[in-house]
Amino acid sequence: MRREFRIDLESYKENQLRRRIDSFMQKYQAEDYSTFIKLLKTKQNVYEAFLNHLTINVSEFFRDPKKFDELERIHLPELLNRKKDLKIWSAACSIGAEPFSVAIILHEIGSGGNHRILGTDVDKNILRRASLGKFSGDALKNVSKHRIKKYFTPDSKSYQINDSIRKKVTFRHHDLLQDKYDTGFDLIMCRNVNIYFTREAQDRVNSQFARSLNPGGILFIGASEMIFNYNRLGLTKISHGFYRKTAN
Ligand SMILES: C[S@@+](CC[C@H](N)C(=O)[O-])C[C@H]1O[C@@H](n2cnc3c(N)ncnc32)[C@H](O)[C@@H]1O
Repeated sequence: MRREFRIDLESYKENQLRRRIDSFMQKYQAEDYSTFIKLLKTKQNVYEAFLNHLTINVSEFFRDPKKFDELERIHLPELLNRKKDLKIWSAACSIGAEPFSVAIILHEIGSGGNHRILGTDVDKNILRRASLGKFSGDALKNVSKHRIKKYFTPDSKSYQINDSIRKKVTFRHHDLLQDKYDTGFDLIMCRNVNIYFTREAQDRVNSQFARSLNPGGILFIGASEMIFNYNRLGLTKISHGFYRKTAN
């Protein structure tokens, strides 16, 4: 996989990955790995489906509402106190609900700053979906009625996010395990993807995030995640899920 597709499967937790690969191979009736690789090489749509299948894409707006509430009440206002224009990265953003949630908050409290919000993922299909900004009702279950009315236009089966918010997020392909990390971020969100990686890969990813943050910048991780060696990475723990890059 590394040679043919530049995919680093070794950095994913083995048992989980094996189960996902096995079920995928069964679905596409690939009896062994060489047939499987051949199939991925010849059928672009199967290859894309495999990337899609590698991890779960499930996401929603304001996932873990208490933590988003903390972000809105405490951390973003604090960042905005120090800087008018924020640079924000939602890494492994899936359908885009996460960067759009932040765009909504900043629209309300961002005092007109010229913020840059980047959403990245390894899965190009999901990025195409994200940039359309169309969501099922399920993804909006934590969004208040007031915000739904203000920022979404419903159609028969889905909700279209309004252009005022959609245009605030730029989507780009990025593989956390292989690609170079941009720098100068005030807030990095990376939630519910590290759980799929080996401990070693998690350490690598987190230390790259620490380097990508501005001093005083914040790393926001998933509710079931933890960074054990945050001190060594130059981070301090603010609360469960939030770490701050120590000022130089
Ligand atoms: C469960 S979703 C998380 C979405 C969002 N961050 C959230 O918490 O709701 C996991 C995402 O990680 C992406 N992903 C998996 N491996 C990745 C990698 N190596 N680099 C970047 N994204 C990756 C998947 O494509 C998927 O969209």
